[in-house]
Amino acid sequence: LSPSRPALAATDKTSFAYTTTRDRWPVIITKVIDGLYQTYHSLNKEESETELEFETKQKEAKAIIEEMGKIKYQLQRDKPLIPLEDDGESDVLMWHNVFNTYFHDKTWYSATWLFTECYLYRLVHSAFAKTKYWRNYDPFARQKEETFKASFVAVSELAKRINELTNGLLSSSSASSTEEEEQERRRIVFHELAQVCLWGNATDLSLLTNLSGDDVEKLQRGGRGTEALKESEKNILANDLDRVWEEKLKNLRNGRIDFVLDNAGFELYVDMVFADWLIQAGYASEIHFHAKRIPWFVSDTTPADFHWLLSAISNLSSSFSTQQQSDLTRLSTRWSSYLENKRWILHTHQFWTSPYAYWHLPDEAPDLFADICKADLVLLKGDLNYRKLVYDCKWEFTTPFVVAIGPLATIEGVPAILALRTCKADVIVGLPAGVEEKMEASGETNWLYSGKYAVVQYSLGKKD
Ligand code: F6P
Ligand code: MG
Repeated sequence: LSPSRPALAATDKTSFAYTTTRDRWPVIITKVIDGLYQTYHSLNKEESETELEFETKQKEAKAIIEEMGKIKYQLQRDKPLIPLEDDGESDVLMWHNVFNTYFHDKTWYSATWLFTECYLYRLVHSAFAKTKYWRNYDPFARQKEETFKASFVAVSELAKRINELTNGLLSSSSASSTEEEEQERRRIVFHELAQVCLWGNATDLSLLTNLSGDDVEKLQRGGRGTEALKESEKNILANDLDRVWEEKLKNLRNGRIDFVLDNAGFELYVDMVFADWLIQAGYASEIHFHAKRIPWFVSDTTPADFHWLLSAISNLSSSFSTQQQSDLTRLSTRWSSYLENKRWILHTHQFWTSPYAYWHLPDEAPDLFADICKADLVLLKGDLNYRKLVYDCKWEFTTPFVVAIGPLATIEGVPAILALRTCKADVIVGLPAGVEEKMEASGETNWLYSGKYAVVQYSLGKKD
């Protein structure tokens, strides 16, 4: 089951797939090596119970570093892909099946980009999974945490905003506004928060291989504030936000909304802000978050990142004002109580870290598909989720979104889907006529993958 379109691959030298394979991945792997070196050198004997334990930790770290070097060497020289070793993880058989069926005779460049990129992160994980003491070590955790700390200005501004909004909701029933005025106010807030949630995806660490903390802050500042939001709305090349509001959210009460998460840190924080409002405003009574089971695409959210964030915002440095601290503590307390009361539910599933495009979701992960079908609306965040939704192939850019997502638009029982994605890859669909030509004429040769532009695309689903 696949579209009859050629897949994206790094063999095309004009593609972002090529740049990614040639330039970005070696940097990403080098950072893993550097990080592990640092950790290795700061290993403390006292933290190990025995001399043997300490020595094993050291030996294992060296072996991982060596393996990272091998992966880097092989991909840089376009060597044939080699099968994943049995590292004891539950998904090895699935990887072997896909590998043997489609990729056993392919190289790092000739295989499809979606496969090689997923495979890269799975191989990295494998090096850790094979050890005793580094199995649960996340080589990207430090980057994720540091970038989030660099986002604290934006974080605290948004905390203030969401608290104002939820206070507003509580007092709105007693206010003298008419039903219509209240609906309009909510429509505007929806636009604001959905966009904050969308632009939060611009801070993806795999793309920002050379940005400083200041740059990250600028990026985040760029997308906020009512004026800034109006400006950035112009960069949404296909925008179904009004449709989602009119056709779904406006009339939804106490529904279930799922977030297929993308990046940890700032993006996860804005997802939580949006999810909070959806609960407080009564549209959802349950939010299901789908996180990654293993470290993935550098910055993707794992359960550990999810919990880390909740504690990070309640343990802020004293450089924040008392008011800022109390705004954030309020959030953290409320969000933790959502988790306790099962209004927020966190899931993982190995399908999200498989190489499969989402066209295969119903067949390859029927349990997950059945669960997702219980949602009233599923939000998929970010670039990778988008690539998987549309099968990461060379569509005409005007192909309707509902065509490009294949079975996820047509199978009986499939829920409404909303993709919120800043554009960071060669694939895009659903553009109105003339937009591609306008972008090509703009002189911005990297418009497809710079992260400056976005798409917000909706499929109504097929529930009765
Ligand atoms: O490297 C491939 C890619 O999908 C890019 O296109 C993007 O920069 C990154 O990985 C992941 O982006 P996101 O975090 O938005 O899924
Ligand atoms: Mg990501």
